[in-house]
Amino acid sequence: MSHSLVTMSYIIATILFILSLSGLSKQETARKGNYYGMLGMAIAIAATALSGYVTSYEVLLGALVIGGAIGARAAIKVEMTQMPELVAIMHSLVGMAAVLVGYANFLDASHPLIGVEKTIHEVEIYIGILIGAVTFSGSVIAFCKLSEKISGKPLLLPGRHWFNLILLIATVVLGGMFLQQSENGSAIVPLAIMTGIALIFGIHMVMAIGGADMPVVVSMLNSYSGWAAAATGFMLSNDLLIVTGALVGSSGAILSYIMCRAMNRNFISVIAGGFGSTAGGEAAVIEGEVQPIDADETAQLLLEAKNIMIIPGYGMAVAQAQHTVNEITKLLKEKGKKVGFGIHPVAGRMPGHMNVLLAEAKVPYDIVYEMDEINEDWAHVDVSIVIGANDIVNPSALDDPNSPIAGMPVLECWKGGTTIVLKRSMASGYAGVGNPLFVLENTRMLFGDANATMQAVLKALKG
Ligand code: TAP
Repeated sequence: MSHSLVTMSYIIATILFILSLSGLSKQETARKGNYYGMLGMAIAIAATALSGYVTSYEVLLGALVIGGAIGARAAIKVEMTQMPELVAIMHSLVGMAAVLVGYANFLDASHPLIGVEKTIHEVEIYIGILIGAVTFSGSVIAFCKLSEKISGKPLLLPGRHWFNLILLIATVVLGGMFLQQSENGSAIVPLAIMTGIALIFGIHMVMAIGGADMPVVVSMLNSYSGWAAAATGFMLSNDLLIVTGALVGSSGAILSYIMCRAMNRNFISVIAGGFGSTAGGEAAVIEGEVQPIDADETAQLLLEAKNIMIIPGYGMAVAQAQHTVNEITKLLKEKGKKVGFGIHPVAGRMPGHMNVLLAEAKVPYDIVYEMDEINEDWAHVDVSIVIGANDIVNPSALDDPNSPIAGMPVLECWKGGTTIVLKRSMASGYAGVGNPLFVLENTRMLFGDANATMQAVLKALKG
């Protein structure tokens, strides 16, 4: 393939990636966005394979088949609830690739460079391995936290900020040594020590972040994986990889900003770790009487209501209750009720988690509202149904300054008529805090698996 044809293909792939990102920003166009992304990636792989840089097609084909098979198997097998973990582990692979490409470039003696070009290439290698190693170890820890293999509680080492600062200074000093020693062949030593430090930094950074702040970590590692890919692009002199990496890096950074705003967090404080987790003492203990309700009584309340708001959370994903919820929505609308869905930006375990589930169940987009759209309107809501949500409807986020989620805006459903909460027990949610909503006077608890209870409510509504 001629050089200009390769460049042309890269430009087309880049445009398709941009179209993909803009498509993914709206539910209505998300499917199209995915198609653009798939087409862009197919063109990118084909153009790279035919660009003349490939020395062994057997190796390339082998890698494509093995990588493709692992990816396809993971995508088919993964449960919707495990998606965030899958994304985290995928990010770690991008980080690992950047580290391996960095070392391969460093050890490759086939294209000797001199002068400024040599220094630039070495800086690219050093930074690429640095970002890659932080992304790799940080993502592995995020994977372990999200899959609950390790506790979500922040690890707060004494003097952790000093520790981070020392690691940072060591990285800069080692960088200087790496560039100086590249002449006499011993540069691998500072490079290897820096890799170790970067791995420790990634582990420490994510370990120090509390469960409630994990949404920011997920989007931040998404951004890091983009920068790691861009760094790999520099090392391989591949323009498409640089552009694609920068797109992922900057969109991840914007998403982190949106997540921080949604949770009323300061980005730097989240990254520094432990934000809001120990400030000022213990979170308040929840005391009061719980008022249980059954499916028939729930159906009765729904039939008496005019305006109903459904608040889905992580438990809806666990129970896979979205299809039953859609059935109930259709039935209630047929009976002349106004039904809406209130979506919190960090509901579930990944950005847009609830929107994906509702789209899968074919809930119409025009009745799905964002938190800001409905938080002023609760006075008009007669009944709200909280389906497997907990932290996102916790009033203590607003009135308990010692709560780990203090300051996070929540869906203020208790300001409406009756709130019915569907969950299996009185257990806390992801942030591990008690929820005073459950004992409020106008709250009723409908205990059980969300899908089973929703089906019972559907039956009662039909009956
Ligand atoms: P959570 O606060 O985690 O609460 C989910 C609730 O669902 C639990 O209290 C659980 O109670 C219930 N549940 C679980 N399985 C159920 C089932 N089969 N049937 C009925 N209920 C079930 O979820 P949320 O309100 O959606 O809040 C999200 C939390 O995750 C926030 O703290 C957020 O910061 C964090 N987080 C979000 C993200 C993103 S990007 N969205 C990423 C990482 C972390 P029972 O066990 O009693 O049933």
